[in-house]
Amino acid sequence: MADNQPADSGTSRVPDRIDTSVPHSARFWNYLLGGKDNYEPDRQVGEYIKEHMPGLVDVARTSRHFLARAIRHLVLEEGIRQFLDIGTGLPTADNTHQVAQRAAADCRIVYVDNDPLVLAHARALLTSTPEGATAYIDADVRDPDAILDAAAATLDFDKPVALVLMGIMGHIEDFEVAKSLIRRLLAPLAPGSFLVHYDGTNTTEQMVAAEEEYTASGAVPYYVRSPEQIEAAFEGLELVEPGVVRLPDWRPEFEAFNGPAHVDAFGGVGRKPLP
Ligand SMILES: C[S@@+](CC[C@H](N)C(=O)[O-])C[C@H]1O[C@@H](n2cnc3c(N)ncnc32)[C@H](O)[C@@H]1O
Repeated sequence: MADNQPADSGTSRVPDRIDTSVPHSARFWNYLLGGKDNYEPDRQVGEYIKEHMPGLVDVARTSRHFLARAIRHLVLEEGIRQFLDIGTGLPTADNTHQVAQRAAADCRIVYVDNDPLVLAHARALLTSTPEGATAYIDADVRDPDAILDAAAATLDFDKPVALVLMGIMGHIEDFEVAKSLIRRLLAPLAPGSFLVHYDGTNTTEQMVAAEEEYTASGAVPYYVRSPEQIEAAFEGLELVEPGVVRLPDWRPEFEAFNGPAHVDAFGGVGRKPLP
């Protein structure tokens, strides 16, 4: 297989903005999830991680199950119909809009990522029900104003929105900067809005080594956090039970999942208080 082609290319030519010489977060993650939209450098670091640090593969798989449980909870138990999913990743089996619109067809979802390959595959994210809507914004999480401005074309900010930040804020080196970006994204959202968030954690040496190996590959770095930092990202919000926990421990009763119980990733769901 040519190094500059995805393993299974829906896109027959590589757009100019796509750098295939170093691993990219979305493509590496796609490889760990068993997808085909990745290139040789993504596969090389992915193979190394699979062999030496399988805990990161567990994070990739369990995080998608956490996403599905959290979205279903928000739609079915909290009445949420609008989602802003930043750091979406490449389309996979159960994307946010599919989970949400299966629970309520009128859900509206805005996806945001800054990876050009995710943009190239965005049409797979835009298969909305007629009652709902999906949109894709090619933007950087470090520019909340641009994201919020563009998202306002699809989402009604007078009504609650769930801000979904899954495995993305670890790409921001300084945790305080990451936290302030989350605050800025939440600021214009109506009371009763939610944050759904997780990141990889420094809870085993293997996980720290996995992230160092990934970063050493030349990819955009990812910085694992402590569980306390993940919890601090929810400051000012009311945590939904059971709080910030390892991903498999977040409402496991919602869905049978025979995955690993111990993963190095913590997350939770928090509500913006009503006045
Ligand atoms: C580890 S993947 C997680 C994908 C998906 N949210 C999931 O949980 O399966 C991180 C995603 O964040 C995106 N990303 C990284 N830095 C970003 C930035 N500064 N702005 C927007 N997206 C970013 C990457 O392109 C990638 O798709």
